[in-house]
Amino acid sequence: MSFFSKLFRFSSHDMAIDLGTANTVVYLRGRGIVLNEPSVVAVETLNGVKRVKAVGDDAKLMMGKTPDSIQAIRPLRDGVIADIDVAEQMIKHFIHKVHGGQRRFFRWPQIVICVPSGSTSVERRAIRDAASNAGASQVWLIEEPMAAAIGADMPVTEPIGSMVVDIGGGTTEVAVLSLRGLAYTTSVRVGGDKMDEAIVSYVRRNHNLLIGDSTAERIKQEVGVAKPPPDGIGLTIHVKGRDLVNGVPKEIQINQGQIAEALSEPVGQIVEGVRIALENTAPELAADIVDQGIVLTGGGALLKGIDEVLRDETGLPVTIADDPLICVALGTGRALEDPVFRGVLHSA
Ligand SMILES: Nc1ncnc2c1ncn2[C@@H]1O[C@H](COP(=O)(O)OP(=O)(O)OP(=O)(O)O)[C@@H](O)[C@H]1O
Ligand SMILES: [Mg+2]
Repeated sequence: MSFFSKLFRFSSHDMAIDLGTANTVVYLRGRGIVLNEPSVVAVETLNGVKRVKAVGDDAKLMMGKTPDSIQAIRPLRDGVIADIDVAEQMIKHFIHKVHGGQRRFFRWPQIVICVPSGSTSVERRAIRDAASNAGASQVWLIEEPMAAAIGADMPVTEPIGSMVVDIGGGTTEVAVLSLRGLAYTTSVRVGGDKMDEAIVSYVRRNHNLLIGDSTAERIKQEVGVAKPPPDGIGLTIHVKGRDLVNGVPKEIQINQGQIAEALSEPVGQIVEGVRIALENTAPELAADIVDQGIVLTGGGALLKGIDEVLRDETGLPVTIADDPLICVALGTGRALEDPVFRGVLHSA
C-alpha cells in the first residue's frame, strides 16, 4: 500500500457508532445513519490461518449454516466485547464500508461509541482500544441509556426526571435521567437473545424439535407476543427443525399463546428490572415519571405487547420510541453533533 493510500485510509467525517450485541449502527456527522448491519463476522480457518470471510448482513446469512472451516462469530455478548480481535476486525470493516470511495476528508475521525451503563472499566477499555486500532484519532464514550434517551427526544438536559428502557439483543438497560446525567441505572442481562433461547428450549421441551437461533428469532419477530392473546391462541406459525427422537427434519405448528408462555421468563425479568429501578428512584424524580411515563427503545421494544405488559405491571404510561432499532445510534450521533450534549461524552 502506498504512503498516500495509507494516509487516506481512515480519512473521514467524525462518526458515532452503536456497537450492539445484535446490530451495529453507524451515524456520520452531518449525514445521519449510514450503516445498520448485524454484529456478526464469519471467520474462515485454512491451514491454521484465520481470515475474515464476511461481515454484517452477509455473515448473518451464514449463521447456523457454516461448514467446519467457517465460524460465524458474534464478537459482542451481553452488550460488551467478548472477542476483541474479531470485534476490531468488524469495526474496521464497517468504517471502511462507510467511507468506501470517499477520500476527500483528510482527517482521522473522532468516534463516539456507546457502552452499556453497567460495563466495567476493562470492558470500556476494550471498546476504546478496538476503535483506536480501527483508526479513530479520539474516542469518546457515551452511556447507552443516555444515547437512547437523546435519540428518543426525551428531556435529558432539563431538570425533569424521565425513564428509558432500552431492550437490546444482549441487555436491557433501565435508566432514570435528569440534567444530562443518569440518576439511576440498572442493567439486566436479558434481551432479544434470551428471548430466542427461550423459544428454542420451549420448542425442544414441548415438541421434541431442535430449531436454530435464527429460526427462533424469526418466530419472535413475526408472531412473538409478550402476553397471551385474548383467546389464548392467536396466530399459528409453521416451524421447521430436526426431530430429536428420530433425527429427521420435521415441521410443527405453534401458536401465539405458546410463544407468550415461552417468553414469559425473559419478559418477567425485564419487568423486574423496571420495578427495581422504580423502587430506587428518588421521590421527586418518581413524581416526574408518573407524568412523563416510560419510553421503550431497542429492538426488543418491537416485541408485540411488551408496552402493555409494562403498563399493566407499573400503572405508568408506556410509549415506544419512533424507530427503536436506531434510537441509540441517533442519540449517539446527536451527542457528537450538538454542543448542548457535550457533557454526556466521556473521554476514553
Ligand atoms: N419485531 C421484533 N420483535 C421482537 N424483537 C425484535 C423485533 N425486531 C428486532 N427484534 C430484536 O431486537 C434485538 C436487537 O435489538 P437492538 O439492535 O436494539 O440490539 P443491540 O443494540 O444490538 O443489543 P445491545 O443493546 O443489547 O447490545 C434482536 O434480538 C432482535 O431479534
Ligand atoms: Mg443497543
